[in-house]
Amino acid sequence: MKKVHVAASTKEYDVTVGSGLDYGVLLKEVHAPCKLMVVSDDTVFSLYGEETLKSLREAGFETFHFVFEHGEKSKTLEVAEKLMIRMIEDGITKTDLLVALGGGVVGDLTGLVASIFLRGMEFVQFPTTLLAAVDSSVGGKTAVDLPNGKNMVGAFHQPIAVFCDTDKFRTLPEQTYAEGMAESIKYGIIYDAGLFEKIEKNEITDEDLVIRCVEIKAEVVAKDEFDKGPRHILNFGHTLGHAVETLSRYTIGHGQGVAIGMAVLSAAKLPGSEAKRVLSVLLDRKLPVKTEFELHELALQARADKKRHGDLIKVVLPVSVGEVVLKDVSVDEWEEIIREGTEKVSKIM
Ligand SMILES: NC(=O)c1ccc[n+]([C@@H]2O[C@H](COP(=O)([O-])OP(=O)(O)OC[C@H]3O[C@@H](n4cnc5c(N)ncnc54)[C@H](O)[C@@H]3O)[C@@H](O)[C@H]2O)c1
Ligand SMILES: [Zn+2]
Repeated sequence: MKKVHVAASTKEYDVTVGSGLDYGVLLKEVHAPCKLMVVSDDTVFSLYGEETLKSLREAGFETFHFVFEHGEKSKTLEVAEKLMIRMIEDGITKTDLLVALGGGVVGDLTGLVASIFLRGMEFVQFPTTLLAAVDSSVGGKTAVDLPNGKNMVGAFHQPIAVFCDTDKFRTLPEQTYAEGMAESIKYGIIYDAGLFEKIEKNEITDEDLVIRCVEIKAEVVAKDEFDKGPRHILNFGHTLGHAVETLSRYTIGHGQGVAIGMAVLSAAKLPGSEAKRVLSVLLDRKLPVKTEFELHELALQARADKKRHGDLIKVVLPVSVGEVVLKDVSVDEWEEIIREGTEKVSKIM
């Protein structure tokens, strides 16, 4: 079991990573027994719900649970409202705790509710996907989607603790695990060539992978909790990735979109040999590296991106494996970068 300390300006907390974690014992170390509302989706709850409630009860917590249908389609204000109504019915108060048991969808929705219920309460994250472990459970971004855009309603609200049990990854479908790997590869490209190499050579355990990715995220978040500048590097591959996700009407998953974004930008901007390494590591993990969507449509989607200011879009471009730069580009320039990258991806493959 290892820990990473996150020193955000609004809250400091630890991310504990290990195999076979006892959630109840760990939670009791950071919070006195209280009422807990455990939020999960149907898939995760059927696998881990009962054992989680049992461990929490044995540690002295009084447990309640709220389970919704799995998938991005549930990350809505409607589901958040149902959860809050249930919390009132179950007598949950401001000094109790919310628990997010699941992937990024459960974590984002639970975190948002924690930020607004009775003007704010504390919550903890028990991530069960690799993506949630390396990315969404840490850093305090919470959100739900609107019909016309992902993550359009949200808040910054840090958890008081994150407990990541890597044993939970064993039941992940291959593609869901691969999507988490896409976000992990992202940390290698933006920050740590050594991490990239370990992933490339398959020389890293899940526990060490989560620890290193969380260390990087914690460093970046500590510099820029509210996403005003440096934190934008975490968005590498995401502007194009979000466009692909949206145009596919979310049939292409978040991590797959990010993989396509990283592949296209790496092909456009990195020397041939480095671009090839990026494409190979993605293809090895059965992640996609190109899209059939029309370039102009993809570029136009960036107009809806939250990272836009005026007519310019803030994009993250790779310089080498391990280093990226932030750049403001027009939609036309963006389309040109995507065109160049898409052509080169086809040549490299
Ligand atoms: N807040 C942030 O900083 C941040 C960062 C990245 C992504 N996100 C958000 O995270 C979401 C994607 O996260 P995700 O990929 O974890 O999605 P998810 O929560 O939908 O999980 C993916 C699927 O895996 C299932 N699942 C979860 N854990 C499982 C397990 N251990 N065994 C078997 N099945 C399991 C879920 O039921 C779901 O069907 C998106 O909504 C994205 O916007 C947020
Ligand atoms: Zn992401």
